Amino acid sequence: MAEPLNRQDMAKQAAADAAAAIVENGMLVGLGSGTTLRRFVRSLGKRCEAGLTITGVPTSESTRALAIEVGVPVADLNDVGELDLVLDGADEIDPQGQMIKGGGGNLLWEKIVATAGARFVAVIDDSKTKDVLGKFPLPVEVVRFGWRATERLIRGLLVESGYLEPAITMRGGLDSPFVTDSGHYILDCALGEITHPDALAIALNRIPGVVENGLFIDIARSAIVGQPDGSIRTIAYD
Ligand code: A5P
Repeated sequence: MAEPLNRQDMAKQAAADAAAAIVENGMLVGLGSGTTLRRFVRSLGKRCEAGLTITGVPTSESTRALAIEVGVPVADLNDVGELDLVLDGADEIDPQGQMIKGGGGNLLWEKIVATAGARFVAVIDDSKTKDVLGKFPLPVEVVRFGWRATERLIRGLLVESGYLEPAITMRGGLDSPFVTDSGHYILDCALGEITHPDALAIALNRIPGVVENGLFIDIARSAIVGQPDGSIRTIAYD
């Protein structure tokens, strides 16, 4: 028997269903990753079963597998042009629509797909809206070769940027590090409050060995925010 939904699950489901409802026939749609987006993909699968014709471009191997399982047609990003719409979750989103993503380890493919689309809509439960980013540790995807040297450079940048003694941890732990779909590691950086996310995103990506960071700047156009009572609200970003 299925587990009863807790309040956060209810909010995720409400956002997921509302997001599935904005997908239109014929669209090329970026399919995000994470628990909220899994609910969205299942909801979209039901619409496809009922006759909706779309093509989805997944942001992870797990989303691809789920889409196929529930009957959402998928294509590789290399085989399609600009996406009409990209729907994805977020770990945090601020009042300007800047986000931290990558809690599920899919930030690299997610950012590539997000920036390949004409419109990005964040699909989130109401716990993800924050006044300031940074309570959620910032994921940074790094090449495995020489990752300790890359970590030192990241630490140096963070200290120079005013984050005193930042805690940086290997996703999954040192004994069995998490490996991304592209074969990289993730370093999670606990920063507390990120004061200048745009500058930090650029500076991190300049470090050799850094593949991508979880700050998604000027990407979200709007958000569908689910509430535990099953209602949703939408937020537009300039
Ligand atoms: C996956 O790597 C992430 O970017 C997710 O989109 C993000 O972590 C939100 O996930 P949940 O929907 O599971 O909270």
